Amino acid sequence: MADLMPALITGSDGNIYKLPPFMTQAHIDLLSNEFVIRDNDLFITTYLKAGTTWMQQIVQLLLNGGEQGDVHLSEAIPWIEGLFAGMYGGTARLFAAELPRRAFHTHLPYRLLPMAAHAKYIYVARNPKDVAVSYFHFATNFMDISYDGSWDEFFEAYVQGEVYFGSVFDHMREWWQASQQADNILFVTYEEMKRSLANVVAKVANFVGTSYDNDFLAHVVAQSSFMAMAKNPLANGSWLQQRANSPGHLRKGVVGDWQTHFTVTQKARLEEVQQQAWCDTELLSLLEE
Ligand code: A3P
Repeated sequence: MADLMPALITGSDGNIYKLPPFMTQAHIDLLSNEFVIRDNDLFITTYLKAGTTWMQQIVQLLLNGGEQGDVHLSEAIPWIEGLFAGMYGGTARLFAAELPRRAFHTHLPYRLLPMAAHAKYIYVARNPKDVAVSYFHFATNFMDISYDGSWDEFFEAYVQGEVYFGSVFDHMREWWQASQQADNILFVTYEEMKRSLANVVAKVANFVGTSYDNDFLAHVVAQSSFMAMAKNPLANGSWLQQRANSPGHLRKGVVGDWQTHFTVTQKARLEEVQQQAWCDTELLSLLEE
């Protein structure tokens, strides 16, 4: 069975982190020790399936005067730990491209990602129940994973943090706590983006230093809608190879889809673990539907 057994990587803090198996200790050590963060580097940070691609699209448009550019979002705003593990041309990309402003995306836990006061970080969180459903469909349909466990098997592994990128609860809590201490980490939620995309786009524009008027804002919002992105081959994840009959990377794009998958027992189980991990009621209320 294709499972989701993660690679165990030791961080510089001595803790063990769970990453996809193609990432090695050497890759992560290289990232920690050799990557030089430049002024104004921008990182979109998420637990996977929380709205990474959506935020990549917003940032791509904001940094490019509203233009999509000629390459897909994972070329334009590459996966930093993926680059260090050899994807998308590997780290040579970092040095070959003299980009005026570099932007990356990452799923690394807070304590594995190199941090610098002169860089900016946008963290997107999403209700862990909806992340679970999105993650299950992604793991099942994305060719490189081709997970063939059942929903129930996936659910238990996910709640225990025995999946790629470990515990969703730790990931969100640690980035949330860090964002409370640092002006250079903007914390937004998928639910907030669904409620008012224009507000979030304006907030991100202010954070990254892009000036805008109403027309520009409306343009970015329109090009970042689910429908617009789903039709856009540079924004819809078409570069990620999917199994036949996959619903695609932009699967449903809604809040509350967990209700079509969770049993009553699973809801209670996840909420219990979440409650233990987040004695932080503010984080809980932020991610309410
Ligand atoms: P679903 O599987 O629930 O549909 P990531 O980019 O982090 O892998 O997250 C993918 C999830 O974000 C998918 O969730 C996808 O549909 C959703 N998503 C991507 N773009 C979106 C948009 N413009 N509006 C709403 N949801 C979006």
